[in-house]
Amino acid sequence: MVGLAHFSLLAITAAGAAAQGLLSCGEAQYNYTEYTCFDDTTLCPVQSGIRTLDCNGACYDPNKYTCSNTTLETYSPYNGELFDCGVARYDPSKYVCYDGDMLCPKSGVTPTLPCGDDCYFASEYTCTDGVLSHYAGPNGSDGTVSVLGQSRFPSKHEYF
Ligand SMILES: *[C@@H]1O[C@H](CO)[C@@H](O)[C@H](O)[C@H]1NC(C)=O
Ligand SMILES: *[C@@H]1O[C@H](CO)[C@@H](O)[C@H](O)[C@H]1NC(C)=O
Ligand SMILES: *[C@@H]1O[C@H](CO)[C@@H](O)[C@H](O)[C@H]1NC(C)=O
Repeated sequence: MVGLAHFSLLAITAAGAAAQGLLSCGEAQYNYTEYTCFDDTTLCPVQSGIRTLDCNGACYDPNKYTCSNTTLETYSPYNGELFDCGVARYDPSKYVCYDGDMLCPKSGVTPTLPCGDDCYFASEYTCTDGVLSHYAGPNGSDGTVSVLGQSRFPSKHEYF
């Protein structure tokens, strides 16, 4: 493996991941039911059914904390307190702020994840270089990949 060109190694890794239904995060492979990958570098675990999220390298429970400009702040769920996300204001009970300027909605305690300008459920899609594909399923069948090109949850608005 060491002697292979980088491109070939990536191709093999991707094929292997597809065969096993695993996703790649940098050099690592992971099961989306157990982890979420951020920026192709940081893996955050799903803990007790809660998908934790990255805040500047720290993994946090988005139902207890909000990531404000790379700093975690606690909040009381469903008390209506609003936080800043770029120019938007949001209720962290209902939305997650990513990278300080992008909002994605939550479904109950499940956060959707950012991909380019879209938000997605980890159980339904995968994100590669800012482009969504239908998740291929646990067996990694890759014959049915289709791509969404639509921005459904634009940021820079008020969300609460
Ligand atoms: C991912 O984890 C789930 C739940 O533990 C398991 O059912 C599934 O087989 C795993 N998938 C892979 C590819 O390991
Ligand atoms: C965010 O944090 C950085 C680094 O601490 C700081 O320079 C910047 O002013 C902060 N931005 C806001 C909007 O608070
Ligand atoms: C995945 O593979 C397992 C074992 O080969 C099989 O039992 C299962 O039906 C497959 N699931 C799908 C969705 O193809």
